[in-house]
Amino acid sequence: MKICSATAPSNIALIKYMGKTSHTVNTPANASISLTLDHLLSEVEIHDSESATDSWQPLIKEGWTAPELSEKGQARFLKHFAKLKEHFGIDGSYQVLSANNFPSDCGIASSASSFAALTLAAFELAKVKGSAEAESTSMKQLSELSRQGSGSSCRSLYTPWALWRHEYAEPVEGLPADLEHQVIILNDEKKEVSSSEAHKRVTTSPSFEGRIERAESRLESLLTGLGSGDWKQVSDICLVEFEDMHELFETSEPSFSYRTDDSRKVVEMVKSFWQENGDGPAPTMDAGANVHLLWRADQALQAAEFAASLPDDFQVVASPGLAGD
Ligand code: PMV
Repeated sequence: MKICSATAPSNIALIKYMGKTSHTVNTPANASISLTLDHLLSEVEIHDSESATDSWQPLIKEGWTAPELSEKGQARFLKHFAKLKEHFGIDGSYQVLSANNFPSDCGIASSASSFAALTLAAFELAKVKGSAEAESTSMKQLSELSRQGSGSSCRSLYTPWALWRHEYAEPVEGLPADLEHQVIILNDEKKEVSSSEAHKRVTTSPSFEGRIERAESRLESLLTGLGSGDWKQVSDICLVEFEDMHELFETSEPSFSYRTDDSRKVVEMVKSFWQENGDGPAPTMDAGANVHLLWRADQALQAAEFAASLPDDFQVVASPGLAGD
């Protein structure tokens, strides 16, 4: 029987979390900032269980997609749940069910949203169980707990912006709240190098030297650009920042790459779009081949024009404000 549930959104970083000072508790080498993708959600339900151990199951829900979690993926999810139960002093074993409102093969990572939803669901469970610890748990502490399961999930507890400097993420006030998001899905095959492995390998790149300073200085310029409405500055910083991260991947030992010819083609199209229109999107890429584009609310027509100019086999998933392109 269902005891409680929680949902949490995905997020896309503009200044990237890449490199850790602790691989066991996911403390970041540098500060990162993300836009929360409120339309891309994970839901976690917690049910009673007859079994002696916790277990995971896909959540069947109309219009939602039950994720296909590997044995390893399930173990990681349940390990985080065990940590949360310990923190809140929750006894017993439970069934954990999860689903996403976006398909798991659409190229959008679900770890941030699903770990954030699990953290919030365990918090709900703690309240139901009358946990004294839950009474005094703040958002900062929830963010810190979520970070230990999946680093980038600690930013998914706030919207529209989350800034993560050290132990936890915090909301950022005064930045645009109405940006739209498009993701150009170019390769939905399983990644050969996981983001956990990428965090380790980047430190072997000669360009990792100075990376923390570069990210910090870009973060300051990005905050200034977003705050003052200098969209060109925002776009330029997003571009150099994700290119910096991908160059770290491509120059690490051993090197690896997520960028494909198609990713490069979309990025070139973004540059040409800016040149032709004197305006355009802010592009970014995560640890994958897909290209994410942010548009201001007044650019819906430009976003539709850009999407229409893409090759037919490039799938575009857009936030509700851009629906119809
Ligand atoms: O949270 P992780 O360990 O999956 O790392 C995410 C890293 C990037 O998505 C590449 C960047 C970020 O800040 O989200």
